[in-house]
Amino acid sequence: NISNPAVSLLGRHVYRLDVNAPIGLDNLAHPSGVLKEAEDYCADAMGADHAFFLINGTSSGIIAMILTACKAGETIILPRNVHKSIINALILSGAVPVYLMPEIDEDLEIANQPSLEQYQKAIQAHPSAKAIFVINPTYFGAVGNLRAIVELAHAHGMGVLVDEAHGAHYYFHASGSPLTAMDAGADMSSVSMHKTAGSLTGSSVLLMKGDRYSPFEIQRSLNIINTTSPSGLLIASLDGARQFMATKGKQAQEETYKLAEYAESQINGIPGFRVCGKSHFLAHGCFDFDRSKLVIALDSLDINGFQLYQLGMAKYKIQFELAETYAVLCIFAIGTKKEHVDRLVASLREVSKEHYHPEMKFADHHFDNRFPYAFIRPRIAFHAAGMLVRLEDCADKISKEQVMLYPPGIPLICPGEVWTKELVERVASYRKEGVKILSTYPDEFEVVDQAKWRKFPLYQRRFQEYITNRRTTPSSDGYSMPFEGGPHKATV
Ligand SMILES: Cc1ncc(COP(=O)(O)O)c(C=O)c1O
Repeated sequence: NISNPAVSLLGRHVYRLDVNAPIGLDNLAHPSGVLKEAEDYCADAMGADHAFFLINGTSSGIIAMILTACKAGETIILPRNVHKSIINALILSGAVPVYLMPEIDEDLEIANQPSLEQYQKAIQAHPSAKAIFVINPTYFGAVGNLRAIVELAHAHGMGVLVDEAHGAHYYFHASGSPLTAMDAGADMSSVSMHKTAGSLTGSSVLLMKGDRYSPFEIQRSLNIINTTSPSGLLIASLDGARQFMATKGKQAQEETYKLAEYAESQINGIPGFRVCGKSHFLAHGCFDFDRSKLVIALDSLDINGFQLYQLGMAKYKIQFELAETYAVLCIFAIGTKKEHVDRLVASLREVSKEHYHPEMKFADHHFDNRFPYAFIRPRIAFHAAGMLVRLEDCADKISKEQVMLYPPGIPLICPGEVWTKELVERVASYRKEGVKILSTYPDEFEVVDQAKWRKFPLYQRRFQEYITNRRTTPSSDGYSMPFEGGPHKATV
């Protein structure tokens, strides 16, 4: 019964539904009534033993999965090209990462999946690791051999946690989609229903299967990070999305895949654009590919991906999902219609007319796409003494923060990793392009202050060794693990 501009815009109905835990509507922190019933329906529809509704996105599910699976000082094996929420989970949990280096697609300058052999190597080298983390799929639709990874991990007594932020639709279209985490036998997965299954932004679900983890402990982890005032609107939207997807999702997703195919055939005929589909990704280290991701490579254009991203909105009212230097990404989901695709295709035709020059080739790809060396684990760097430096002065300093383009939100550098001069150049080039860089401070970057950090003497010799020899580069090892100058202490 209030009036303000948002009420006028959204309508009173929305506000009437926005109630906070009245009698009869259950409690998301301890579901035992209608919310439990809705979560059970969701688990059933998605092939899980338990489902936990999330009102702070898959990010919160990822943090809860890692808090449940790893204590401080315990090891987790994960691809380096994870979303920032995983790095935040490492800071909160104190888990020690063993980063697997994904295959880099040098054409598109994107990171795909680590190979099965890399998982194997890391598992053998770190037999006491508690869990393996897998992305299914990456933002660009790259899929690894999840079933084989699960078998390998379970054979070594390790749990498997999966990031399915971009894979919600697989659960409702089993025959023509990549394998879901639950079908692959993974233990837990966080799934962004809001991205491709039609619930409201910020609503996701954490699924679990089997008895490696206790549902009570997962709920406990969630209760650490969740608000005590969960939005009923988000929760209701999850239940509605589940109901739609469980009954009509297969058909809706089938149409989505067909539209993506249609878009691919149309765009491939436009000079300057090329859709990189399944065969491209299989040739770049992937086991499978999500056909609903339309990865459009650019060439012989006088604009790059970032400029096309801006032009798309400014001139054609087209919001691309994200841009990289040589590609843009469109995500097709159940709400995508043919008229949207036709508008995209017509816009790209116009862009081609204005910006395509057959004689022009993009400059040689000049970025060093390797990930920086991990020197200390994210939690240690987070708590170390820090100082702010200008970008030009970052080389050879240990980062205290994550720096990334958003989207995709994959850190170019994580806390604990060492800046290289190549990375400084890369970030400077993004800045020059006007690309938004996500970091903590507006102009400077936070690095470990070696003079003030009282633990630095423990690490100094090894740090000098790295700086002078740079012997241990992540890509030549296949994996990279922080050196911490002694046994990890469970208390830090
Ligand atoms: C790969 C990946 N994982 C996790 C997330 C986090 O998902 P959410 O936005 O639902 O918190 C994202 C978000 O874009 C993502 O791209």
